[in-house]
Amino acid sequence: MAVEVGVGRGGSEYAPGVAFEAMTDLVERRDLDQVYQPAEDSRLLAETAAERVGDGDLVLDVGTGSGHVAAVAEDAGADVVGVDLNPLACRDARDSGIPVVQANLTDPFRDGVFDAVLFNPPYLPTPPEDERDDWMEYALSGGEDGRAVIEPFLDGVGRVLAPAGRVLLLVSTLTGLDAVVEYAAKRGLSAEEVAAESHPFERLVVLALVPGRSTDETTN
Ligand SMILES: C[S@@+](CC[C@H](N)C(=O)[O-])C[C@H]1O[C@@H](n2cnc3c(N)ncnc32)[C@H](O)[C@@H]1O
Repeated sequence: MAVEVGVGRGGSEYAPGVAFEAMTDLVERRDLDQVYQPAEDSRLLAETAAERVGDGDLVLDVGTGSGHVAAVAEDAGADVVGVDLNPLACRDARDSGIPVVQANLTDPFRDGVFDAVLFNPPYLPTPPEDERDDWMEYALSGGEDGRAVIEPFLDGVGRVLAPAGRVLLLVSTLTGLDAVVEYAAKRGLSAEEVAAESHPFERLVVLALVPGRSTDETTN
């Protein structure tokens, strides 16, 4: 989802005007088949996952889309299952040989089973008036602050992690990196930046999240 529009932005500050232009550009380029096709973010997450999962690992790819990230993790030796809300994405991923469940985030899975959970979430900040009623919106829009899907994911992902399990979460500076790290800490997940790539108007980062001590006892 790296942004390639003609208005600059820098650093990790959220700039609403630029994010709006970015969204406009992506809307114009959106794939009519309604399944998110692998992009820079998919590739960064997939490459990072390939270095960090291996034989015998049970891996969940949340928001699997076309199944690209899941397939790379599988090539690295992991047993991978995908989940996506979009039935068309589930069909495409299944056609690529990935077992897929159509469901919300980690909801259908048992407690404590996954060695790794991967997620390239929808993260573009999107004003309500620009929301579209189609499946590509589910792939792109992170709501007004970009974290509308990331936060519920962080609320639930700890439950499905095996004792030594970890999360690899793709985040953009458009989404507010510090806010994501702080929210994860409140949910008992400590974050470390393990990969990053700069693009003209955003920096893509992969966070490795592991269970630690919550920074907010009231939200446990
Ligand atoms: C940015 S796309 C990533 C697709 C693929 N993983 C990749 O990297 O190319 C985000 C995906 O998350 C899915 N998604 C959005 N909200 C979801 C939710 N609540 N539960 C499951 N999947 C969701 C979308 O349908 C979309 O396929």
